[in-house]
Amino acid sequence: MKIALLGGTGDIAEGLVLRWSRVGHKIFIGSRSDEKAKSIASEYNDTLSKLGINSRIEGMVNADAAIAAEVIVISLPYEHSASTIRQIQSSFTNQIVISPVVPMVKKGKAFVYSPPQHGSAALEIREALPKTVKLVSAYHNLPAKELRKIDHVLEYDVVICGDDEETKNVVKKITEEMPNLRALDAGPLEASMMIEAITPLIINLNTRYKPQEFSVKFV
Ligand SMILES: NC(=O)c1ccc[n+]([C@@H]2O[C@H](COP(=O)([O-])OP(=O)(O)OC[C@H]3O[C@@H](n4cnc5c(N)ncnc54)[C@H](OP(=O)(O)O)[C@@H]3O)[C@@H](O)[C@H]2O)c1
Repeated sequence: MKIALLGGTGDIAEGLVLRWSRVGHKIFIGSRSDEKAKSIASEYNDTLSKLGINSRIEGMVNADAAIAAEVIVISLPYEHSASTIRQIQSSFTNQIVISPVVPMVKKGKAFVYSPPQHGSAALEIREALPKTVKLVSAYHNLPAKELRKIDHVLEYDVVICGDDEETKNVVKKITEEMPNLRALDAGPLEASMMIEAITPLIINLNTRYKPQEFSVKFV
């Protein structure tokens, strides 16, 4: 598939770009800076080429990446997600959009979930997007540090929510192409707050138990 990552130069995007490239997807790295996106795309193509993997990663500004794609990941900090989407509104038509976005703040030594008045980042992002796109919430609980080690098998679950079954099936498929992630459907987008809220807990545990990289696995 053609997959774009807005803010694709950042931490969570790296592992997704490398792992999806490895299984043959065409990737568009979006950025505020065309130059930065091209430089990161070239770096990732080089990394994969050294592993004998023929990748198709291109860098461009966020608006062009979104137009070019069938699936768009909002890999942007919470604070800049809705505003960036509004700035590039005309790039969204009927694509699948994935939100891994987590709103959180630091209270003393710990991160805590800090949802917007909409209830969750996903619901705020839904309001910023045109009604024609299909939004799924996923990947909140994956640690970027583990995801970017592309030879590491990830024994984690990815909980997803969304309002369209067919769209969730596509997201499940591209998720499970990354060994050994298992996608679990937690129901409608309204349930996203519960997945988003687990992330600060995981970060606090990962800080305390370094170099352990916890995520979630339902048993
Ligand atoms: N990191 C993780 O382990 C992890 C795990 C699960 C979920 N998440 C979620 O995934 C999202 C991205 O996280 P991340 O850690 O990858 O973030 P990040 O590396 O801090 O930032 C991602 C990209 O956002 C762009 N950006 C920064 N400031 C911006 C602004 N003012 N306006 C527009 N774009 C801006 C930058 O791209 P350019 O400079 O190229 O424009 C940057 O490379 C977050 O919502 C986070 O909650 C992260």
